[in-house]
Amino acid sequence: MAMKVTVIGLGYLGATHAVAMAEMGHQVIGIEADSKRLSALQEGKLPFYEPGLDEALARVIASGKISFKSGHDEDSRDADVHFLCVGTPQVTGSYAADTSYLFSAVDALAPYLSPTAVVAGKSTVPVGTAKTLTERLSKGAGFAAHLVWNPEFLREGTALEDSLRPDRIVIGVPSGDDHSEKVMRSIYEPITNGDTGSPAGQTPFLVMDVATSELVKVAANSFLATKISFINAMAEIAEASGADAVRLAEAIGMDARIGSLFLRNGIGFGGGCLPKDIRAFMARANELGVGSAVDFLADVDAVNLRRRERVVELAKRELGSLTDKRILMLGAAFKPDSDDLRDSPALMVALKLAQAGAHVVIHDPMALHGIKDRYPQLEPIEDVFEAAKGADIVVLGTEWKFYRELDASKLASVVSGKTVIDGRNALPYQSWQEAGWKVIALGRNLENA
Ligand code: UDX
Repeated sequence: MAMKVTVIGLGYLGATHAVAMAEMGHQVIGIEADSKRLSALQEGKLPFYEPGLDEALARVIASGKISFKSGHDEDSRDADVHFLCVGTPQVTGSYAADTSYLFSAVDALAPYLSPTAVVAGKSTVPVGTAKTLTERLSKGAGFAAHLVWNPEFLREGTALEDSLRPDRIVIGVPSGDDHSEKVMRSIYEPITNGDTGSPAGQTPFLVMDVATSELVKVAANSFLATKISFINAMAEIAEASGADAVRLAEAIGMDARIGSLFLRNGIGFGGGCLPKDIRAFMARANELGVGSAVDFLADVDAVNLRRRERVVELAKRELGSLTDKRILMLGAAFKPDSDDLRDSPALMVALKLAQAGAHVVIHDPMALHGIKDRYPQLEPIEDVFEAAKGADIVVLGTEWKFYRELDASKLASVVSGKTVIDGRNALPYQSWQEAGWKVIALGRNLENA
């Protein structure tokens, strides 16, 4: 049954969720306070790059299923569900998550909330936040508000697919609130009954207490981050012992208990979620007096940051001093199929190389916007062969398909030094070697391969 929803906060998560809800047939009001972002969306433009989402946005605008506003108005009053999708960034100078946008969002919603409407929080939050938000919202509204937590697991690059055909749907419901559970089950019916292309009747719908649902997201992201840092720690051992972390990952990943995903070693994890979530988790565990339970996440973070340094060490090993050396960084985004630069390992390595005195030219198929203004120490160039001209060394920071398919011979003909540091273990190294390149891949000893 089509329902009416508002989606509050149209960043990555909110914009994707709003479009997904409209694609499911619901009537969606998207609410965004940032006027630039709002007008872009009203014109059918996405303020970020996400494959397939722009076409879906155009579709739902054309079908009249979605509208965008700067704030609530009378139209919000009869919404069945209000989704909270505002950001919870890392507080400057601390590891904690800043939940103030959520509190502002419920304050703005309270005057328009109906007693039967369900508020569903999707933002990633420190455990315990939902309880405080419920108290605040109920006080503002003047009645006991229905608030549930509904964590979102979408990955950038496959965000729409993850929203329409998720692995599982998780809802944290306060005990006894059968009304909220019923409403949430019907809002997600197009997924659970197979209308969105998900296997009918097979998407798990997990109902649990609110605190557990808040923890699910940070626990999942902490586990993924740990897995990546585990293989990166193995890469450090491999580098010191002449072993090969890629073959190692292949061999351990075949154990079904371990699994092969998220075992790619390289310059590590970045983006808007994993780094901030493990830090916020440590901060929250400390507040709860159980900080030592997640002390290991500090090591997960440290291993991750060390891999970025490793590239600088390798460049120095190859070139000696980096002063006035020309380095080409292939990739700026934190992962392929995204133009997101938040805590991007590729960008951070580029900045470190520049700080060490190199002239760093940076290329990315999608994410060069804004680099010129924000990072004047880097030189963004849009044509990869132009960017490679005279480079003393090339570093791969983001494993775009574009780079995996790059003509290594053509690139070799324009650079000054034919050495590439593959920070993602993504290049077909044999064809690069055949084209005359010395390939250094993190965690590998290609001479032994
Ligand atoms: C992540 C979670 O996967 C998603 O479920 C959650 O909702 C949001 O956070 P995302 O940030 O889009 O999603 O990216 P993800 O695919 O998880 O990659 C995170 C980082 O880890 C990237 O920088 C990626 O390059 C890196 N990574 C991933 C590795 O270094 N090795 C791997 O094996 C996998």
